[in-house]
Amino acid sequence: MDKLVIEGGVPLRGSVEVSGSKNALLPILAATLLTPEKCVIKNAPILRDTQTMIRIIRNLGVDVAIDGSTIIVRSGKLMKYIAPYRLVSTMRASFCVLGALAGRLKKAEVSLPGGCIIGVRPVDLHIKGLRSLGARIEIRDGYVCVDARRLQGRPVFLGGLFGSSVLATANVMMAASLAPGTTIIENAACEPEVVDLADFLVAMGAKVSGQGSPRITIKGVKSLKGCEYKIIPDRIEAGTFAIAAAITKGDVTIKNVVVEHLSAVIQKLQEAGANVQIAKNSIRVRRKGSLKPVNLATLPYPGFPTDMQAQFMSLMCLAPGISVITERIYPDRFMHIAELSRMGAQIFRQDSTSIVHGVKKLHGAPIMASDLRASAALVLAGLAAREKTEVLRIYHLERGYENLDKKLASLGATICREKQ
Ligand code: EPZ
Repeated sequence: MDKLVIEGGVPLRGSVEVSGSKNALLPILAATLLTPEKCVIKNAPILRDTQTMIRIIRNLGVDVAIDGSTIIVRSGKLMKYIAPYRLVSTMRASFCVLGALAGRLKKAEVSLPGGCIIGVRPVDLHIKGLRSLGARIEIRDGYVCVDARRLQGRPVFLGGLFGSSVLATANVMMAASLAPGTTIIENAACEPEVVDLADFLVAMGAKVSGQGSPRITIKGVKSLKGCEYKIIPDRIEAGTFAIAAAITKGDVTIKNVVVEHLSAVIQKLQEAGANVQIAKNSIRVRRKGSLKPVNLATLPYPGFPTDMQAQFMSLMCLAPGISVITERIYPDRFMHIAELSRMGAQIFRQDSTSIVHGVKKLHGAPIMASDLRASAALVLAGLAAREKTEVLRIYHLERGYENLDKKLASLGATICREKQ
């Protein structure tokens, strides 16, 4: 396993290009199961999670080829309808083959994904959604077994204790695309990644409307066709670079972004004292003066994303004063606090809220990455720390960021990969 060694304190400068969105790509790869025809997916980030999803769909009998950032998928005659524990347990996003298999083959057996470091992540809304469409579902030996022969478009309410669900909305949209009648999803997730999946389904010939709003309507069709599609830019990668610029007092232009997807993050960065200049497909983030403390709560889109909470906390560690950060999506997603504290951060957590007392400096230390976004937060802290920081277990980082170390190095960061 590799580690990242960072000599912090260098202001990042220059421009960087954001890759395609991981969280848009993964359900779109699952959606290719809905047609026997060829799908060509462009601007795909080739990450560890991408490889895992490809392994899962290949295991179902699908042909997949990768050519640079293009993935060509032909699912032809699907041979299997079972996604086994050994594959699903490695990545929760793989659970969204459930809706695609239910739609195409009218049956599916997908392993329950199990626990996750960022907290309890139930799948009740996925099951409730498919049941609302008439699927018969049993849990047997840790598998969700779906008989979808009587799938029928119907109203589906997808609200849970923590609001909407991105992947449950994805599962229901996929199954409903090939179910006779009209499905109306109420309390649908509005995230740009859900919109991208809906747009992909439309490109395949599905009749989906209302994506981006909490009410999505799907009129079932008999079959779907192949298509060519370009994945949206990764708003979380873009936000991570924006914080990298702000935390190092740098000046970075982040290219290939959809500015609208970054509204909440841009607003909080400005509150924190960064200067953000907005152009058509790029933003320039600079900071000269000192940071200001910011209070924030994570919320479903268009609120501040949970996937940026850890990175923003790293920034607030250096803002003189008190910042209050509340996690409303995953109340336990605070694994980074212990590691940031090892670098000198002053953070007190109570339940789903963390109080950050800004300190003057963070100190380099060996630190351990626990999940994807926590790892990114530690890298950001390392970029700002004076001494050497070693981020161990960067396996997590590789799941969701394409060439993060190389891209940071191109902005002037002193960062290198070494054997752990
Ligand atoms: C997606 O996960 C993302 N993953 C996550 O990104 C992201 O953090 C999350 O959405 C929230 O934005 C992918 O897109 C692959 P949810 P998902 O269902 O869909 C609760 C990353 O770092 N819930 O929208 O699994 C759930 O516990 C990852 O890239 C239920 O109660 O998240 C949470 O509190 C991590 N029952 C809330 O809903 C359910 O059946 C939102 O979760 C499903 C979810």
